[in-house]
Amino acid sequence: MANQESNRDAKTAELDRRLERIHAMGGPERVERQHGQGKLSARERLQCLLDPDSFEEIGAHIESRATELGMDGVRAAADGVVTGCGRIDGRVVYVFAQDFTVLGGSLGEMHAVKIQRIQDLALKSGVPIIGLNDSGGARIQEGVDALNGYGEIFKRNTWASGVIPQITVIMGPSAGGAVYSPALTDLIIMVRGTGQMFITGPEVIKSVTGEAVSQDALGGAETQLKKSGVAHLVADGDDQALGLVRRLLSYLPANNVEEPPTVDIHDPYDRLGKNLARLMPEDSARPYDVKEVIETVVDQGSFFELQSGYADNLVIGLARMGGRPVGIIANQPRVLAGTLDINASDKLARFVRFCDAFNLALVTLVDTPGYLPGTQQEFGGIIRHGAKVLYAYAEAVVPKVTVILRKAYGGAYLAMCSRSVGSDWVLAWPSAEIAVMGPEGAANIIFRESIRQAKDPDEARRLKTKDYRQRFAHPYVAAAHGQVDAVIYPEATRHHVIRALMALYNKRDERPAKRHGNIPL
Ligand code: HXC
Repeated sequence: MANQESNRDAKTAELDRRLERIHAMGGPERVERQHGQGKLSARERLQCLLDPDSFEEIGAHIESRATELGMDGVRAAADGVVTGCGRIDGRVVYVFAQDFTVLGGSLGEMHAVKIQRIQDLALKSGVPIIGLNDSGGARIQEGVDALNGYGEIFKRNTWASGVIPQITVIMGPSAGGAVYSPALTDLIIMVRGTGQMFITGPEVIKSVTGEAVSQDALGGAETQLKKSGVAHLVADGDDQALGLVRRLLSYLPANNVEEPPTVDIHDPYDRLGKNLARLMPEDSARPYDVKEVIETVVDQGSFFELQSGYADNLVIGLARMGGRPVGIIANQPRVLAGTLDINASDKLARFVRFCDAFNLALVTLVDTPGYLPGTQQEFGGIIRHGAKVLYAYAEAVVPKVTVILRKAYGGAYLAMCSRSVGSDWVLAWPSAEIAVMGPEGAANIIFRESIRQAKDPDEARRLKTKDYRQRFAHPYVAAAHGQVDAVIYPEATRHHVIRALMALYNKRDERPAKRHGNIPL
C-alpha cells in the first residue's frame, strides 16, 4: 500500500515537474525581456483576455519532432504556442497565443498542429476563435514542415470564414506569408508600437528596391490601420487590445446560425434626437459630421467604429438598436464630400458581407454625391471595386434599413442600399435629394442648348439649376414612385429605424442555390 502511494506520488511529481517547465515557457529572463518591450507573455495575455479561471489548456505537452539545425534535444515549452478554450462574458471561445519567449514564437510543424486542432474544435463547436500572434514566422529549422503548417492553417481559416467569428490580435511581429492567416480572419486588432505585419521586411525591401523604411513605418499599427486598411482596430498596449476583443465579441453571435446577443437597455426606443432637426446645413454643399447622426440614433454609447482612419469618407461600425446588435454604414460628408472611392467601396463591401454572415442587420445612412471622379480612380479599377458594394448589398439576406439623409445621386444612390438593390425599408429625411445627378450637372446637360443661346448664360444656368432643384432635389418623387417608404422627421429617426428592424426581425430571404457567387475582387 505504501509502495503504491509513493509510486503515485512519484508520477504526480513528474507531472508537476513537466507542467512547471511548460508554464515557465521561455524562462524568467526571456519573460523579463518580453515585459521590457511592453509585452505580456502568452499565458498572461490569456489571463487578461478570458474570464477568471476559465482557461482549459489543450496540447500543453506537445513538443517539436525536429532534429535538424540544432533542434535535437531542444525542449520548447508548449512548442511556443498556448492553446485551449475559455470563456468571455460566460461564452465559450477557442484561443491560441504564440509565445515569443519560446523560439521567438516561431511556427514549426507541431506548433502549427496545435493551432489547427483549435481551429477544428472551434469550427465543430460553432464558437469564435481568437488568435494572439507574436511570432518570428516559419521556424527556419523546420523548413518545409513549417510552411506546410501554415498552409493547413490558411485552409482552415478559409473553411471557418462566415461560419464562426475569427479575430486576430497582432501583439508582436507577423512577417512573411505568416500575415495571411490574420488576413483571412474577420477582424485584426494591432498593438501600437509592438505589433507589426509585413510580407517582406525593411532589409529585403532595401536590397530589392533601394527604399529605406523602418519596421514600424512599413507595417506598424498606424500604417496597417490608416494606409493599407489591413487592421480594423489599434490599441495602446496588450491590455487594451484584449479589452477590444471582449467588446467585439459582445456584438457577435457564436456562429452563423445563432442570433447576436441582445442586452437590456435603458435608452427608450422613441427617444427624440432634437439635435438632428438642426444638423443639416442650409446649403447642401456644406458638410456635417455623420457620426453625430449615428451616435444620436443608436443605443447610447453603443457605437463601436471599425477602420477609423481608413477611407474616412465612409464610416462603418457595430452598434445596438433597441438592445440588438446591428452594422452601421454611413457616408461621411466631412471627408471627400462623402463620395464613394475605391477604398471606401472595399471597406463597405467587406463589412456588409461580415454582417450578413453573422446575422447583423444593416442600417445604412446615405449622403453621397456619387463616385469620386478622376483618372486615379478609373485606372485603379473603381468599376471593379464599386461593383463589390452592389454585389454585397444585393447578396445580403439580413434585414436592411436605409435612411437617406441628404444626397443620393446616380450609381451611388443605388449602391448605398437602395430599394432596387435590396433594401427592405427605405426612409428619407425631408432634406433628401434623390436623382440621377446633382442639379448643377443635370441643368448643364439637359439645358445645354438653351443656356448657350441665352443672353445671360450664367443667369440662365442659375435659373435652370433652381428649377431642376425644385422639381427633383427632394425625396417626394422617389416616395411617390414607391422607392422611399416614408419621409420622416429627422428627430424621430431612431424610433422609425427600430420599428422597421423589429418588424423585419423574422425576415427570411432566399437566394438561388449555388456553390458560391463570383464577387468582383
Ligand atoms: C526560428 C526564430 C525565428 C524563426 C526568431 N527566432 N524568429 N527561430 N525561426 N523564424 C528566434 C531567434 O533565433 C531567437 O532565438 C529568438 O527567436 C528571439 O529572436 P530575436 O531575433 O532575438 O528577437 P528580436 O531581436 O526581437 O527580433 C525579432 C524578429 C527576428 C525581427 C522577428 O527574430 C527575425 O527577423 N526573425 C526572422 C523573421 C523571418 O524572416 N521569419 C520568416 C518569415 S517567412 P535565441 O535562441 O537566439 O534567443 C515566413 C514564411 C511563412 O514566415 C510562409 C507561409 C506561407
